[in-house]
Parts: sequence; C-alpha cells; structure tokens
Amino acid sequence: MRAAHPATRPGDESGDRTHAAPEGHPAGDAEAGAAPAGTAARPEADGGPWWRDAVCYELYPRSFADGDGDGTGDLRGATARLDHLAGLGVDAVWITPFYPSPLADGGYDISDHTAVAPELGTLDDWDALTARAHALGLRVLVDLVPNHTSAAHPWFREALAAPAGGEARDRYVFRDGRGPGGRTPPNDWLSAFGGPAWTRVPGDGPGTGPAQWYLHLHTPHQPDLNWRNPAVAAEFERILRFWLDHGADGFRVDVAHTLFKAHGLPDAGHGQHTEPHRNHLMPYHDQEELHPLYRRWRTVLDSHPGADGTAAVGDRLLVGEVILFDQRRLARYVRPGEMGHVLNFAWTDAPWEGRALRAVIEETVAATDAVGAPATWTLSSHDTLRPVSRFGGGERGARRARAAALLTLALPGAAYVYQGEELGLPQAHVPEDRRRDPVWELSGYTDQGRDGCRVPLPWQGSTSPYGFSEAPPEDCWFPPPDDWAPLTVDAQHRDPGSVLSLYRAALRLRRAHPPRRTGRLRLLGPGSGEWLGFDRGPGLRCLVNFGPAALPLDPTDEVLLSSEPLHGHLLPPDTTVWLRPGPR
Ligand code: NOJ
Repeated sequence: MRAAHPATRPGDESGDRTHAAPEGHPAGDAEAGAAPAGTAARPEADGGPWWRDAVCYELYPRSFADGDGDGTGDLRGATARLDHLAGLGVDAVWITPFYPSPLADGGYDISDHTAVAPELGTLDDWDALTARAHALGLRVLVDLVPNHTSAAHPWFREALAAPAGGEARDRYVFRDGRGPGGRTPPNDWLSAFGGPAWTRVPGDGPGTGPAQWYLHLHTPHQPDLNWRNPAVAAEFERILRFWLDHGADGFRVDVAHTLFKAHGLPDAGHGQHTEPHRNHLMPYHDQEELHPLYRRWRTVLDSHPGADGTAAVGDRLLVGEVILFDQRRLARYVRPGEMGHVLNFAWTDAPWEGRALRAVIEETVAATDAVGAPATWTLSSHDTLRPVSRFGGGERGARRARAAALLTLALPGAAYVYQGEELGLPQAHVPEDRRRDPVWELSGYTDQGRDGCRVPLPWQGSTSPYGFSEAPPEDCWFPPPDDWAPLTVDAQHRDPGSVLSLYRAALRLRRAHPPRRTGRLRLLGPGSGEWLGFDRGPGLRCLVNFGPAALPLDPTDEVLLSSEPLHGHLLPPDTTVWLRPGPR
C-alpha cells in the first residue's frame, strides 16, 4: 500500500497546507505583454499537434459577458473578458452557437450558418474576438451544427412550400406516414428530448401534395438534413471555409454521430435513449458514411489557407460531439486523418465512485491508444448538471467537484472546462416562468432541463448580476442567484484557497508536466474502489481518495497540489492530491 500512497515531504507536518499556491494576476500579466498562457507558450517537445494535451474552455456566449447592457451576453462582452481565459491557462476556446436563431434550442436551431445573431453582434465583432483570442495565445473553435437547421432556415421554408418528392424537400428527411391516411409516423424513432422524432406537415396547400412527415431528432423546430444530398455536403464545406476565413482554428461538431441515417429508416426498437451502452446500434447513430465525411473535412481544414495565406497540416482541430458510450466505436472517429478529439460522455456521466471512474479511464485509454489518439476528459458542459450539484450538492458536492477536477486535469490527453466550472458554480434554480430549455415543455414539465447550468457568470461585486451586465438581474438571460457574491471571479482571484486558484494552479502544473507519450497509462494498485492513482509522467502522481477514511501518504513524496488542505501525511476522503514521487 505504501508505495501507492504518496505523501507530503517530512517537515510539512506543521499544520494545514493551502491547496493552491497563489500567483500574480494572470490577466494583468497577459495585458502587460508577458508570454500569453495559451498556445504560444506551450512546449511542443515531441512535435505533436497543439491539441494533443490541450485544455479547451467552453464559452456559452449568451451567459458569459454582456457588452451592450441589454442583459444578454454577446461577442463584445466575451472579447473584453477573454483575459480571464488566458489567465486561467487554457489553450483554446470553443464558442457555442452565436448564429441567427429563433432560440428554440438555445441557439442550436440555426437559421443562417454564416452570420452572427444581431443580438450578439456583427461579423466585425466576431473578427475582433478571434483577433483578441489569438493575441492572447488562444485558439478559437467554432460550433458547427450540421445535423439540422432551424425550421426558420430558408431551405426548410422552401421545403415546406415545395411538393412532396420535390428537390427542396430532399435536403431534409420527408417521408409519407404509415397506416390509414398516412397518419402514423414513418417509423418508431424518438426525439432526444421526448416524443416522436417526426412531425406531420399539412399537405393540402397549393402544389404541396399529400401530407408528409419530416424527421427531427431534436425539437420539431430542428429538422434533420439529408446528408445523402450533395447540396447539403457542399453547403457545409462552404460554411467550414467561411469560418476558417474568419479566424477559426477548428470546429466542435454538434451531434457528429447522427448525420447519416440507416438506409430505409428501419424501426429502432427498444432502448432508444435509455440504454446508452447500446446506442451505437440505433439506426440514426454511428453510420459508416460519417467517416469518409470527416476525413473529407480533415482535408478541408488541412488545406484551406488561413488569414496569413498558410495552412499547417494537422494544426486545425475537429472535435466531435459523438455521444457513444462504447469506447471502441467512439475511438473510430479519432483515427488518423479524422477528428482530433471526441468528447467523452462516459466520463461526464460517471458517478463519483472509484470503480466506475477507473473503468472509464481504462476503457478510454485502451481505445484511444489503439488508434494513436489522445483521450479527452469532460466534466461538464452546457448540457449537464453542474458537477457540484451532480456529486451531491452543498459542501460535499463542492468538495467532490474539486477532487474530480484535479483527477480530470491530471489524466493524459485533452480536457474540456465549461464556463463556471472553474468557479465551482452549482446548478442554479431558474424560476418556471424564465425557463427556456425545450426539454421543460417536451418532458411534460417534469424535467427542468439545462437552464440551470446556463446562468450568467458572476464576475465581480456583491449583488446580482455581479458585473455580467449593466442590466438589472430580472432582465438578464437568466437571473443570477442572490447568493453568488463569494463565487465571483474577482472574489476568487483574491483567495488562494478558491476553486479558481485551484484550476489555475492545476493548469500551470499540468503544462509543466506533460504526460508520458510511450506506454499505456497504468493505474496504481488493485482498484479497490476506495482509491485510485496513476502517474501522469515521471514527476506527477495523482491520487484520489473515494473512501470514508483518510489514506496514509508516503512521507517521501512532495505535495504539489491538493483539492483540500492536507493535515500531515493523510489524504482526507473525497480529496485528490498531485505529488512528486520521492526516492523509493
Ligand atoms: C448537442 C448540444 O450540445 C445541445 O445543446 C443541443 O440541444 C443538441 N446537440 C441539438 O443541437
């Protein structure tokens, strides 16, 4: 046991240890012209791509920062606050949809894929954002949504006005219904948000022919595109090139596993959305034709000239939101010549339990190693319950979320941090009359949906909306809770024991300790479920205590960072520590 339970160095027993060493104000450093914290400063010892071990920050623009005082976060607001990301030490920022949208699904219902939503700014504002990000050493990832458009997209309006079987309808998935009068949907597919994945459109308008059904794997306001229509593929290549011309360093691809549907649209049968480990078998998931498509996009990204006229092969990143839980199926998307990252939902969904987390680590590392790709680790996103709440809420949830963050950030590969995770924000309560997520209505008002993790970030001050906007809280995108004053960026910046200080210290140390490139990650010990440990590289060992009792640490090991203050050579329950192993 002792070898696997490293500890503080002798002489460190004098009392509590602060868990994160304080540093100068990183934003100030960036502004003063010090080496930016992002890509420019990253050592590329083995010549691998920048994204291999990158930390990417997910920015949800409507709740990040409001620049014009109307209560909705926007691009100018985001640009003005990018130094927060540089100070945190991330490599890239992924910006969720900022396009014109009727907002039936938080902006993932897009009516124009090559424009900026007027309430968020202009294309010039976008260009200013990418310029500022690049100046800070941050890469920019654009959220591409190729599975569906908004029902307000000109293509869909055209399709509705066109006759059944017409060319305009073929860009989407229209079918006749089954049974008498075609009144039953074409198959049994269910929408991800509840209810059938088909909606019937009237067919009795002039020239429209009989009523038909159209497919939408999400809300009825998000009709699925027909990826076997060459016009769809051509349009998305144009969209990729458009954003590459506007400074994009890569794309996060929304529901990248759903674009093609099995020929003949067969019934899916049981287990839709309820048996995650079988979901690669669904006829609307994981079709083989996706792989040539992503290989094609890879060549577009590799060959399209950037603003400076050059395009470095492999420098741009494709990130797949591939919601598959079979790690071997998932890893097929990151084979050479395809995507760089796939978001790891098995990690996001795992409970705070040693055995479960160990299993996900082992399966992920085995599958990604087999194809020579980096693993990715995602604790949260704009779609998930915030970790603090997911792991039990209150002080226990907060403590576990800190431990989970240090575990996640020690793992070899890339990590994603969702805005507010670095502040330890809990899921916020959003009053019923302010809810926006379609999940609320489509679940028959039983599932509160995802709004609680999309509440505006608290930046400074003691009253809501904490510097997010000049507008009063009731006019903000969502009203920020009244008790978030201790959680603001400003308050946490001044506190060396804060979650923000922990994240900053972790990102700094992680950069200084790149993971081993050769040999598979080996987990330490037998895997009792009570604790978990591994060596990220020669100088960084990560150890997590999931059990109810404190674990003894090896006194020859040096503590680099811990998610809680340590008392002597003991690792308290629900705590992660990073150690420099001493001589054995
Ligand atoms: C995944 C996005 O993350 C989520 O927010 C959205 O609702 C669906 N895709 C549909 O676009």
